[in-house]
Amino acid sequence: MKHKIAPSLLSADFLHLKEEIELINDSEADWLHFDIMDGVFVPNISFGFPILEAVGPILKKPMDVHLMIVEPEKFIKTVAETGAYMMNVHYEASPHLHRTIAAIKETGMMAGVTLNPHTPVYLLEDIIHDVDMVLLMSVNPGFGGQHFIEHSVEKTARLKDMITRKGLHTLIEVDGGVNMETAGRLLTAGADILVAGNFIFKSHNPQQTIRDLKAL
Ligand code: DX5
Ligand code: ZN
Repeated sequence: MKHKIAPSLLSADFLHLKEEIELINDSEADWLHFDIMDGVFVPNISFGFPILEAVGPILKKPMDVHLMIVEPEKFIKTVAETGAYMMNVHYEASPHLHRTIAAIKETGMMAGVTLNPHTPVYLLEDIIHDVDMVLLMSVNPGFGGQHFIEHSVEKTARLKDMITRKGLHTLIEVDGGVNMETAGRLLTAGADILVAGNFIFKSHNPQQTIRDLKAL
């Protein structure tokens, strides 16, 4: 499978949200990544569901929703109603992850589990069969534009090994500090989808940057 690119809306110009969505629609981006933060699970607050509801009807790409909130299971129905394609919940915020994953899938959405940089991939041994995707954080969640944590490359390779060993087809998405250089190494290590915020939206020509990332 050719790798996918998911620009992160967090780095877009919110004053011109409609134009930013149109830019994504007319680009080679595969998904659009939405970062929802609650100021509790992570030390920052971004935007909430009204943005997904507003953007949904004009967006032509699948919505990849990354919930950086406590008790994400409370919002499964709400996220499904926005038309989201993928709902990612943090392992660290989900004491009953198996139940949460099942509930996400029941709505028809794809289910992803997200790991913070310090959470080891071996903790997924007994849940990996049930998820469609694992989202590895390659920065501490909460902010765009942070420096890539090097260890994430080796972590991606270890997760890829686990998936291959089990004969699964679970997708691997990596999020944080992605640029041309880190992207190349993550793809070699086994990543299927790369999220990029600042590198795309703060670039001189975001559509060309997406094309460059797709061409890797
Ligand atoms: C961080 C978010 C990321 C962020 C990535 O908490 O989960 O999706 O937008 O931004 P960059 O690519 O700028 O590191
Ligand atoms: Zn994210």
